[in-house]
Amino acid sequence: MTAIRSVVLGCGSYLPQRVLTNAELAAKVDTSDEWIVQRTGIRQRHIAAEGEFTSHLAINAARAALAHAGVDAQSIDLIVLATSTPDQTFPATAVAVQNGLGINHGAAFDLQAVCSGFVFALASADNFLRTGAFKRALVIGAETFSRILDWNDRGTCVLFGDGAGAVVLEAQAQPGTPSDRGVLTTHLRSDGRHKGKLYVDGGPSSTQTVGHLRMEGREVFKHAVGMITDVIVDAFNATGATADSIDWFVPHQANKRIIDASAHKLHIAPQKVVLTVDLHGNTSAASIPLALAVAVNDGRVKKGDLVLFEAMGGGFTWGSALLRW
Ligand code: ACO
Repeated sequence: MTAIRSVVLGCGSYLPQRVLTNAELAAKVDTSDEWIVQRTGIRQRHIAAEGEFTSHLAINAARAALAHAGVDAQSIDLIVLATSTPDQTFPATAVAVQNGLGINHGAAFDLQAVCSGFVFALASADNFLRTGAFKRALVIGAETFSRILDWNDRGTCVLFGDGAGAVVLEAQAQPGTPSDRGVLTTHLRSDGRHKGKLYVDGGPSSTQTVGHLRMEGREVFKHAVGMITDVIVDAFNATGATADSIDWFVPHQANKRIIDASAHKLHIAPQKVVLTVDLHGNTSAASIPLALAVAVNDGRVKKGDLVLFEAMGGGFTWGSALLRW
């Protein structure tokens, strides 16, 4: 029995040039490198330049992914862009990316699930590809969270950064076995009872302003590990994969303590965990494809490897995806 799978052809990423260190932040707000590193593992983050928008970061990441995949932009018929920091309220930033890549066929749309955005976008594109609606997709996570931070709020401004990452997916017929390449399972969840714990205090319909990010950090932390591990167990149950059989764990990069606690609870060996939060901070929907690109480029992730993604964020939303590279 064959199965249509969404196989990753390539990935790429882009980080703005400007690096903002903890020491520089400590000169602006009452914090310290030691506090930030101890509580989060973050040492630095990248910040978009004036005039550099989410779409610009996304286009650069998409070009890198297309080059890595060795395919032409014209072969892409679907773009799903996960972001909570679009260039404009509308049109979708995805159409700016589509236009920037010179594509004017197929479909392009944005998807908003905050830090879980990339997993939600991957699952959406996977479903479209498996039904035959589209053949080759760009799935992008791109953010300029620096634009929605309250730079006087030390509880949040130290946590986030800007960046973008992308993967190229192609619908391919596979044997229909656990050794198939491509996306093997995805699991998405949300629970709006938590919508006031991590949010932006503005928006077109409510305040007609962009607003700033607000967070009850402890509340987020309290729920994060349980939600993340639940949805990973769902992925294991759906596929028969285990903590031992996966090759790489590429989690959303919010906080090293959350990542360590989740891996520990699931008995995932520390050497399988891809960590970039120290260098990138929390780049929300961009964090997983940014981390993935690092581990692919440095040779860790190889063809045939079993790779596990997870994310959790505002909403709350959370999800997992398991794929064979
Ligand atoms: N520097 C120094 N002190 C600080 C800072 C800072 N940057 N931020 C807060 N503090 C202070 C607080 O004011 C407080 O001081 P007080 O005791 O005098 O009132 C003290 O540190 C403790 O504050 P808490 O918020 O309780 O600190 P906590 O240990 O919970 O750490 C943190 C805060 C790092 C935000 C933690 O709660 C956390 O990691 N939460 C998860 C949130 C997260 O990762 N969100 C990302 C988005 S969601 C996601 O992507 C999963």
